[in-house]
Amino acid sequence: MTQTRSVVLGGGSYLPSRVLTNAELARMVDTSDEWIVQRTGIRERHIAADGEMTSDLALRAAQAALSDAGVDARTIDLIVLATSTPDQTFPATAVTVQASLGIDHGAAFDLQAVCSGFVYALSVTDSMLRSGACKRALVIGAETFSRILDWTDRTTCVLFGDGAGAIVLEAQQQPGNVTDRGILTTHLRSDGRHKSKLYVDGGPSSTQTVGHLRMEGRAVFKHAVAMITDVIDDAFKATGYGADSIDWFIPHQANKRIIDDSAKKLGIAPEKVVITVDRHGNTSAASIPLALDVARKDGRVKAGDLVLFEAMGGGFTWGSALVRW
Ligand code: UT7
Repeated sequence: MTQTRSVVLGGGSYLPSRVLTNAELARMVDTSDEWIVQRTGIRERHIAADGEMTSDLALRAAQAALSDAGVDARTIDLIVLATSTPDQTFPATAVTVQASLGIDHGAAFDLQAVCSGFVYALSVTDSMLRSGACKRALVIGAETFSRILDWTDRTTCVLFGDGAGAIVLEAQQQPGNVTDRGILTTHLRSDGRHKSKLYVDGGPSSTQTVGHLRMEGRAVFKHAVAMITDVIDDAFKATGYGADSIDWFIPHQANKRIIDDSAKKLGIAPEKVVITVDRHGNTSAASIPLALDVARKDGRVKAGDLVLFEAMGGGFTWGSALVRW
């Protein structure tokens, strides 16, 4: 019996041109290239130019994804933009992107699940496509975390970067067997008891300011691997696939040590793990589609491949998605 699946038609990404190296950061705060590389794997990150907003990054990634998919923007009837750094408190950054793409129908909204935003957006979009609520969607992760960093706090400012990535998804009838392309399963979790371990100390309803990112890094680290592997086990149980069946593991890029430990615990071979944290830093909701785009452009991810995504971040929120490319 055939089954409706959210099939990926194409993807794209965008990085601001300015690159900030660890050596430059070492001139700004008391840190070193050696400490940052050893503890995180990060060597450099991209930083948006003055006046360059999240919507600008998102638009460039969306245009690249549409062109890769070979579809006209006006055929898109849903835009879900995962971000924690919107242009404004409202309207949603997604409507700015919608208007810039010349789309005046369907729905566009932002989704806020911090670093898990892209996986959350995939899951929500998949539900909407499979329910028949819409036909063709743009899922975007776009962030300008440089705008919410305390550039005097060495424990956080060395970790994050700016960027955007996007994919185009379409509801399609698939055979309903193991050859099905598209999103095979998604799993989302959150636990608000951890909300003060990674947060922004401002907001419209609390301080009427934008605020800065604050993090108990060690506490986040402590939970990360267990949460990530748990929600990936959910994906394996739901589909019958296991670590050996995965062609590519594309995790949220926060810290190379977390990625390596998670892959090891799951039994995923290191050569199947896509790492971009060295070049991008942690770009929150943008990190997965950015890494995905790198792995597609260099020829690693190909049609038919089984690709596993996972993310964990503020809230805490965490989630996984298994996709047949
Ligand atoms: O994407 C959302 C999820 N976020 C994450 O996954 C982040 C999770 N956490 C981490 O990645 C790591 O905890 C960090 C990279 C943030 C920190 O690494 P760590 O190995 O947990 O270091 P630590 O926080 O335990 O700090 C070790 C030492 C401390 O000094 P003392 O107290 O031992 O004297 C810090 O003050 O390193 C010091 N330190 C630094 N030194 C040089 C903290 N930041 C820096 C720095 N440069 N930038």
